[in-house]
Amino acid sequence: MNNLDCSFKNDVYYSDLNYILAKLSEEEKKKFENSSILITGCAGLLGFYFMSFFSEFFNELKLKKVIGIDNFQLGCPLWVQKINNKNVQILNLDIANIKVADAKNLYNCNYIIHMASIASPPFYRKYPLKTVEANVWGLRNLLDIYINKDINGFLYMSTSEIYGEPDQTFIPTPETYRGYVSTIGPRASYDESKRFGETLCYLYSKEYSLPIKIARPFNTFGPGMRLNDKRVAADFAQSVINNQNIFVYSDGSPTRTFCYVTDGIVGYIKAMLYQSFDVFNIGIDKPEISIKKLAEIYETIGKSLLNFNKNIVYKTSNDPNYLSDNPTRRCPDISKAKSLLNYNPTIEVEEGVYKFLTFLTTGGDIN
Ligand SMILES: NC(=O)c1ccc[n+]([C@@H]2O[C@H](COP(=O)([O-])OP(=O)(O)OC[C@H]3O[C@@H](n4cnc5c(N)ncnc54)[C@H](O)[C@@H]3O)[C@@H](O)[C@H]2O)c1
Repeated sequence: MNNLDCSFKNDVYYSDLNYILAKLSEEEKKKFENSSILITGCAGLLGFYFMSFFSEFFNELKLKKVIGIDNFQLGCPLWVQKINNKNVQILNLDIANIKVADAKNLYNCNYIIHMASIASPPFYRKYPLKTVEANVWGLRNLLDIYINKDINGFLYMSTSEIYGEPDQTFIPTPETYRGYVSTIGPRASYDESKRFGETLCYLYSKEYSLPIKIARPFNTFGPGMRLNDKRVAADFAQSVINNQNIFVYSDGSPTRTFCYVTDGIVGYIKAMLYQSFDVFNIGIDKPEISIKKLAEIYETIGKSLLNFNKNIVYKTSNDPNYLSDNPTRRCPDISKAKSLLNYNPTIEVEEGVYKFLTFLTTGGDIN
């Protein structure tokens, strides 16, 4: 492996990166030969594993360059500050402000993964216009840069939120479900800008034959999450490792499936390498559990791993919009990714929480 100069690399980190590599076919790995990769939003949860994967397997995959872009709007994590690798370049840029003419150093990238966008609901409610800018203006800037360039793949990270509050008969939700989403309201900046982002991708793929693919991630968690990120998996992890009460800001009844980050990354890479324009749900389809159950999983694993001895407490959030337009159920139908991409996520939520807490408490403080 080609080490980054970072101290947080523990057993979970290495076994996770090896898991991702093992899930890719030889044919998929070969597609990266002599490629340069651009990752926007590289300092976030998914960015951590994308950057780590491509950096650590730089030689095995015969890559030429890895470039990450982030505006560090929510802070610059420790792992970014510690990167010291000549093959990896991290640029402090706002994707919404990049001009095509000023982006010459990005021209030679062959694979582009566009993830720049705040993903945590409390933060996209706080910065709604910035969220729209990254998903619409930022996306368009990038697409314009790569018109008439020789690229092999462009992945747009959309979201399961484009489905809004799905009709119960469409759960598990297939890609063909068109969504039940509010154009105005506290979640609209995120949901609707992602929806329009998908439309832009569709139009650019038709008009300019760009090799674009769209991934719709469903609740993905694990190492790389900022613990102050305010998504539930991070909130619960923070409580357990600090031995504080786990607060649930609802009655605990909404349900989700929770995808461990490595299974997500495998799916996104496979989607990006797919042969033609398409859209894929990426996540895990079982088990669909309540937030109450998730809190209990953190509590149980916290007790056995860290002597956690506090309680699960139900209370109302100070944020009046915490539950506004919050989907009651969310569960992906991933049969399309299974059949077309040979995607097969295997890490169920208990194992994922165990890995996440182990990562955090064995030197994996990356925040
Ligand atoms: N993690 C999930 O469960 C999940 C689910 C659905 C969709 N997604 C999508 O996947 C992508 C990555 O998710 P994540 O969980 O890593 O998010 P994250 O919030 O952890 O990271 C996103 C990163 O994007 C950066 N960013 C935001 N606006 C930017 C801009 N204008 N220019 C440059 N950088 C900018 C932020 O600083 C941050 O580091 C996002 O587009 C998100 O919407 C993630």
